[in-house]
Amino acid sequence: MRTHKCGELNKQQLGATVTICGWVHRRRDHGGVIFIDLRDRAGLVQVVVDPDVADAFAIAEHVRSEYVLAITGIVRDRPQGTSNTNMISGEIEILAKHIEVLNESETPPFPIESEIEVNEELRLKYRYIDLRRVAMQEKMKVRRDVTRMLRNFLDDHEFFEIETPYLTKATPEGARDYIVPSRTHENSFFALPQSPQLYKQILMVAGMDRYYQVVRCFRDEDLRADRQPEFTQLDIETSFMNEDEIMTIMEEMIRQLFAKVINVELDAKFPRMSYQEAVSKYGIDRPDLRIPLELVDIADDMKAVDFKVFSAPANDPKGRVVAMRVPNGGEKLSRKDIEDLTKYVSIYGAKGLAYIKVNDLAAGIEGLQSPIVKFAPAEVWASVLAKTGAQDGDLIFFGADKASIVNEAMGALRVKLGHDLNLIEGEWKPVWVVDFPMFDWDEKTGRYNAIHHPFTAPSCSVEELVANPGTALSRAYDLVLNGTEVGGGSIRINRPAMQSTVFEILGIGEEEAREKFGFLLDALKYGAPPHGGLAFGLDRLVMLMTGSTSIRDVIAFPKTQSAACPLVNAPAVVTDEQLKELGIRLIKPAGK
Ligand code: AMO
Ligand code: AMP
Repeated sequence: MRTHKCGELNKQQLGATVTICGWVHRRRDHGGVIFIDLRDRAGLVQVVVDPDVADAFAIAEHVRSEYVLAITGIVRDRPQGTSNTNMISGEIEILAKHIEVLNESETPPFPIESEIEVNEELRLKYRYIDLRRVAMQEKMKVRRDVTRMLRNFLDDHEFFEIETPYLTKATPEGARDYIVPSRTHENSFFALPQSPQLYKQILMVAGMDRYYQVVRCFRDEDLRADRQPEFTQLDIETSFMNEDEIMTIMEEMIRQLFAKVINVELDAKFPRMSYQEAVSKYGIDRPDLRIPLELVDIADDMKAVDFKVFSAPANDPKGRVVAMRVPNGGEKLSRKDIEDLTKYVSIYGAKGLAYIKVNDLAAGIEGLQSPIVKFAPAEVWASVLAKTGAQDGDLIFFGADKASIVNEAMGALRVKLGHDLNLIEGEWKPVWVVDFPMFDWDEKTGRYNAIHHPFTAPSCSVEELVANPGTALSRAYDLVLNGTEVGGGSIRINRPAMQSTVFEILGIGEEEAREKFGFLLDALKYGAPPHGGLAFGLDRLVMLMTGSTSIRDVIAFPKTQSAACPLVNAPAVVTDEQLKELGIRLIKPAGK
């Protein structure tokens, strides 16, 4: 139908007769001459329709935005002073000889210009219009480039792409399952996979050596800007590689990805940081290392002070007291700002936000401005300020409470201040977080939970694990980029005895373990090689690489915050016949 794409025409085709197809982006009637900007995936080109080409002109007179046209014409230079250097085709235009309307269009529900803000619900309902926008086309292109590059890299490194089932059994990754009823097996249900974790481990037992898959995962969990109920992983598993070898090859892949797709040179070696250090310095296991603020423990100084708010958590093994220095914060943050920040940390459960404004260090306690200096003697503040490295003009914030609250609140405050005060240093700061604990203790259920998943190997023996589950470390690793967890994985358990021990510690009894994971325990008995791997959140990677604020913007057909699809109106009711076939009776029948 066409000889060229609109957006790729340039001076090379000068004088040639070309046929292009696309959508009317804009139509301007300059009294006598009509200009049409025609748009396809490659971009825009300007078409000029002169009244002396009567047939074409008659059509051009009544075309409207988003009509689909085929135009044949001659490529010519734009008149002096009218070229547009922002577009590839900006130096030329097409003098139309023939125009055919391939289809008409109603007035679109919103303009195609990317700059115009449109309500997201509307964008998702008319996603086919939204995806015509240049910004969205660019994001889809980056996504294509990303998956293509990753596949090439893995193919070159002898990974096999192997598909695993979507209709399967629950795979625990910490979320709720999406359940699919089975018609052929009465009263039985499939679960959509939260990840292909167990299949990929079984592929290693099967001798596949290196596996990958660009795969959809399904998790029914509370949604956020970087979470979707169905999302895509680049899922990877290898045999006979230790964690250092896995991290090294994956680092190389990510470095090549950034270099080839967005022309960014990441660090030659990504730093590695223990979970312990991350939480202690940044309050979180996915630190944004572009922000140069750190939490400093000051519990030792606060044990004996006459201020319960600080002394109580300082003496509580589960408590934490920290200081965070904000360079020049004294000038940058007003009283009102501090009040607002106090409200902000209260979202995370903080009961207050004590601070000290450092006016004049040399003047001792007289040089400090704060509602809390009166609660402790000068030498205590001198010690605290020395630990934070405070200088004149700084503001020091304090958090004191249960460690979990302090970490969340002060960690979030750190990120907020980093952005609000423009403290971000550098563009890309990847970091591997390693040495995670195996388990955390859930007060509510009185049970241990797996921090990664129950198939992750500990870095100790069965005996040591049983003796000290609370302090045991795992062989897991997460890749964190600018405060977002973009990937995570581990070396897996490959011996049935260790796997059973971990299930036991998690409170999964022998019978339950057999029922849920008997197939895995069996597979581990038949020569399971040492194996490990990881999965990257593909949507999150593309989100970061395109500078998007939500992963919905890099997914062609995402779900809303309430996990629905406004385009096709899913989820939806099903017919009574379907329910009957499935043997399902609704508690509250539809429409009642
Ligand atoms: P994990 O649960 O850490 O590990 O998931 C791996 C990566 O997937 C991304 N991710 C998500 N992205 C969008 N929406 C979500 N709801 C969502 N949940 C997770 C994150 C995360 O780092 N089977 C293990 C991997 C392994 O051990 O090999 C797993 O799924 O970027
Ligand atoms: P109060 O004596 O309650 O007025 O508190 C004195 C200062 O300590 C105020 O600036 C409070 O915001 C702050 N504060 C109170 N509770 C905490 C807490 N748990 N962590 C940090 N600061 C707090």
